[in-house]
Amino acid sequence: MDQKQLKVEAARKALEHVASGMKLGIGTGSTAEEFVRLLAQKLAAGLQIVGVPTSERTAALCRELGVPLSTLDETPELDLTIDGADEIDMHLSLIKGGGGALLREKIVAAASTRMIVIADKSKVVDTLGRFPLPIEVNRFGLRATEHAIAAAANRLGLSGDIKLRMTDAQPFVTDGDHFILDASFGRIPDTRALSDALLAIPGVVEHGLFIGLASAAIVAGSDGIETIQA
Ligand code: A5P
Repeated sequence: MDQKQLKVEAARKALEHVASGMKLGIGTGSTAEEFVRLLAQKLAAGLQIVGVPTSERTAALCRELGVPLSTLDETPELDLTIDGADEIDMHLSLIKGGGGALLREKIVAAASTRMIVIADKSKVVDTLGRFPLPIEVNRFGLRATEHAIAAAANRLGLSGDIKLRMTDAQPFVTDGDHFILDASFGRIPDTRALSDALLAIPGVVEHGLFIGLASAAIVAGSDGIETIQA
């Protein structure tokens, strides 16, 4: 099975947790998009849900496929969010934001009773940090914020490149009109300490460490599907 098929299998398994009447957070990224496609098929067969998308990109796909949408303002409490991840550890801590949607993803996950992560097995790691940590920052004071991030990381014994995410030779702009710094710190042994240190920096809007948000991860490998439970 190739990676795309593994994503489909994880998404298919997650769909078993979706029941009619649910208010559903809908994630962003290629795995979440496979989920949206399968969800649309179920809706055509009679399932009834309302979805809150975690990005404009996901909202556009949902509209195209006829998935009924709401907003967190209209629907502030969700039953379940299904989303992908860039890395997952055995404690269900995550790195997210490779697709640039980490802020809305975190807001939606926090508004949900449960969050199920879907991924292929390549995303599972012993310690988070192989994937550069996306940090969403205010445009104002970008360089000062970058310096403050480097200094905060250094105090925790972490260092590495911090790069402004670019797209088509321009800074990548998030749905919230912010920039993203991708921080290659390597292994992050104390995710909570790094999270706290980053959130103490005024220019940091949010970061891609998701700690204590996921209830389960459905991970598809060529040897089958595994569910990591909190
Ligand atoms: C989007 O901002 C991310 O958090 C995605 O959920 C994550 O990057 C996983 O994306 P893929 O499913 O495309 O790997």
